[in-house]
Amino acid sequence: MDTIVIEGGAALRGVVPVSGAKNAALPVFAATLLAPGRYLIENVPDLRDIRTIAALLVELGAAARLAAPGVWEVDTSGANHFEAPYDLVKTMRASCLVLGPLTARLGRARVSLPGGCAIGERPIDQHLKGLEALGASIAIEHGYVEAARSRRLTGARALMDLITVTGTMNVMMAATLAEGRTVIENAAREPEVAALADFLNAMGARVTGAGTPEIVIEGVDALRPANTRIIPDRIEAGTYMTAAAITGGEVTVEGIDPALVANITGKLHEIGCVIKEGAHGVTVGAPEVIRSVNVNTAPYPGFPTDMQAQIMALLAVGDGASVITETIFENRFMHVAELRRMGADIHVHGATATVRGVASLSGAPLMATDLRASASLVLAGLAAEGRTTISRVYHLDRGYERLEEKLRVLGARIQRDPGQ
Ligand code: EPU
Repeated sequence: MDTIVIEGGAALRGVVPVSGAKNAALPVFAATLLAPGRYLIENVPDLRDIRTIAALLVELGAAARLAAPGVWEVDTSGANHFEAPYDLVKTMRASCLVLGPLTARLGRARVSLPGGCAIGERPIDQHLKGLEALGASIAIEHGYVEAARSRRLTGARALMDLITVTGTMNVMMAATLAEGRTVIENAAREPEVAALADFLNAMGARVTGAGTPEIVIEGVDALRPANTRIIPDRIEAGTYMTAAAITGGEVTVEGIDPALVANITGKLHEIGCVIKEGAHGVTVGAPEVIRSVNVNTAPYPGFPTDMQAQIMALLAVGDGASVITETIFENRFMHVAELRRMGADIHVHGATATVRGVASLSGAPLMATDLRASASLVLAGLAAEGRTTISRVYHLDRGYERLEEKLRVLGARIQRDPGQ
C-alpha cells in the first residue's frame, strides 16, 4: 500500500488552484438517473469516490466515461436497473444518493444499507422518512433498503428531524418528479445542496429556496438531460489555507469564491491569519502567533465538520488552550491519537477536545483513518520537525485531487512511496 512521506518544516508559498467539489459532484452524478440521456459534467475532480459513483451508474445500466481531463460524459439512456450492491455502497456511503432518483423514475430502488463508518453511526432514517412522506413504501431486508411506489410519488411536507446534507438531496431529487408540491423543512443549507438544485432546474425541475432551511419543489412530469460545471471544493480550499497557516507561509487558493469559505476564513482570521479576498481567490498569510480559539462544528453556514480535524492540527501548535466541539458526528476525533503521537497535547471528553498548543510537533509514522483526519495528519506533518510517514493513504485519494503535486508546487517536501 502507498505511503506519504513528508519532511516537515518548509513554509508553503504560492498559488494553488482549487478542484471541483467531490460532495457537489456525487449528487450530480446520481441526479442523471432522473432523466434518460446524455450529460456532460465539467470540473469533476479526479478522485476515487468519483470513479465509484461512475461505476455505480454503470452497474445501473448507464454509460459513464472520462471524455477529457475533468469532463465526464454520462449516458443514462440504458439505466434501468435498480440495485446498488453492497460491494459499491460499502466503499462509499454517498452511493445511497441514487435512492431518491431511482424510486422517482423507475418506481423501485434496492440499495444496500450503508453500515456505520469510522466517523459515526450515520443512519439514513431521515432519507427514508422523506421518501415515505412522498408515498414510497420502504422495507429493510437482507441488509438492503427496498423502496417502491405503486403510483407516482406525491408532493408532501417533509420535515427533517435533523439537518442532513445527503438526506435533503435525496428527498429533493425524488420530489422533482412527484405530483404536486413538496416542502422540505429544516433542510440543509450547504452550497452543494444549492448547486444540486441549480442542476435540477437546468434539467427542467422547479426547485426554489435551496440554500435556505425551506426548499419548495413543484413536481414536473419529466426532466431532460443538462450539462453542468461542478462548483469549487470549499473543504479542499480550506485545507490549503490551513496549510499556509500551520507552516508559516502564504498561499493563494485560486478559483474559490470567498463567500463559499467565509465560515473558514472567519475562523482563520480569529486565529490571527491575514486574509485577502479577491475576485479570483483567497490568500491566507500565517500569523506571527497562532492564537487559541474555540471551534464548534455546525451545519452550514456554521464551521464545517469536514474542517474540524485540519483546524485542530493548526491549534495544536497554537498559543494557549482551544476547545473544539464536534456537534455533527459522534466519533470524529480519530486524528487525536495520531496527533498526540507527534507531541500534541489534546484531551477528548465526549464531543469536546481541549487542545493545548505546543511549541512544535515532531514527525512520526502515522496511520490515516478517514478522509479529513488524514488531511489533518498531512498538515501536522508539513509543520513538524523531521519526517512523517502516513500509511493507508487511500483515504486521502477519496477526496484530495493531486494532493502531493499541489503541495509540492507550494514548496512542500512530500512524496508518495508506492507500496510493495
Ligand atoms: N443523520 C441521521 N439520520 C439521517 C441522516 C443523517 O441521524 O437520516 C445524522 C448523521 O449520522 C450525522 C448528521 O446527521 O450525525 C449529519 O449527517 P449528514 O446526513 O448531513 O451527512 P452526510 O450527508 O452523510 C455529508 C458529506 C460529509 C459531511 C457531512 C456533514 C457528502 C457525500 N458527504 O454527509 O462529507 O461531513 O455531509 O457536512 O456530501 C467528507 O467529505 O469527508 C464527508 C464525510
